[in-house]
Amino acid sequence: MKGVVLAGGTGSRLSPLTKITNKHLLPVYDKPMIYYPIQTLVGAGIRDILIVTGGRNAGDFLRLLGNGKEFGLSHLNYTYQEGEGGIAEALSLARHFAEGHRLCVILGDNIIQSNITPVVEAFRQQERGARILLKAVPDAERFGVAELHGNRVINIEEKPRQPRSSYAVTGIYFYDESVWQKIDRLEPSERGELEITDVNNFYIREGSMEFSFLEGWWTDAGTFESLLRANNLVAESRVAAPAEAQ
Ligand code: G1P
Repeated sequence: MKGVVLAGGTGSRLSPLTKITNKHLLPVYDKPMIYYPIQTLVGAGIRDILIVTGGRNAGDFLRLLGNGKEFGLSHLNYTYQEGEGGIAEALSLARHFAEGHRLCVILGDNIIQSNITPVVEAFRQQERGARILLKAVPDAERFGVAELHGNRVINIEEKPRQPRSSYAVTGIYFYDESVWQKIDRLEPSERGELEITDVNNFYIREGSMEFSFLEGWWTDAGTFESLLRANNLVAESRVAAPAEAQ
């Protein structure tokens, strides 16, 4: 299975912190933000990884990460997103890298506590389709929100004013080889972007979307509040389990 970390965008919600660097290079406690999603993939045994980045500081990713030695990797792949076309557009840049394979996509600002190996295994057992990870949150309107019916997810709404559940769709997605055809069918949303939520809804409509509940804490880090929260959660977990012991 291939891994893709999406780390482009302008990070405008974090301006002026992002005026001179990319959001994903900002510190979260004792590491740059992008370390966490890479560690999430590597920790689940996904070692063939592409970083999609963009903006004026793309070269800094190479300087920081090199070939991924700090993660026990011998190679990392990189690609460059021009402009701001949305998450699904950024993902489309991974096509040359991942076509013909299953993939795990993770947003570069999503930080989690747990190890997702069991979810990777569950997806491997799936004959086809996609799998998302859900987390109950108090502020679901900030996210894609999943509507559940029994053990099926029947719809996802992107940042609804009145969420139909408290289940946020986290930024960790598993897709089969059909994801590229689905991206080809996307139309830009009202905010002019190709939305990952529309890709997920295509899978839901064809009846091939599965989900797991994410264990442990989860946060994004794209706003001042969530960036602070990310720092605090990582700091607290280091106190609970010092880095050397992990
Ligand atoms: C994106 C997705 C949203 C998802 C979130 C997870 O939102 O569009 O569906 O719940 O990531 O972090 P964004 O961070 O672009 O606002």
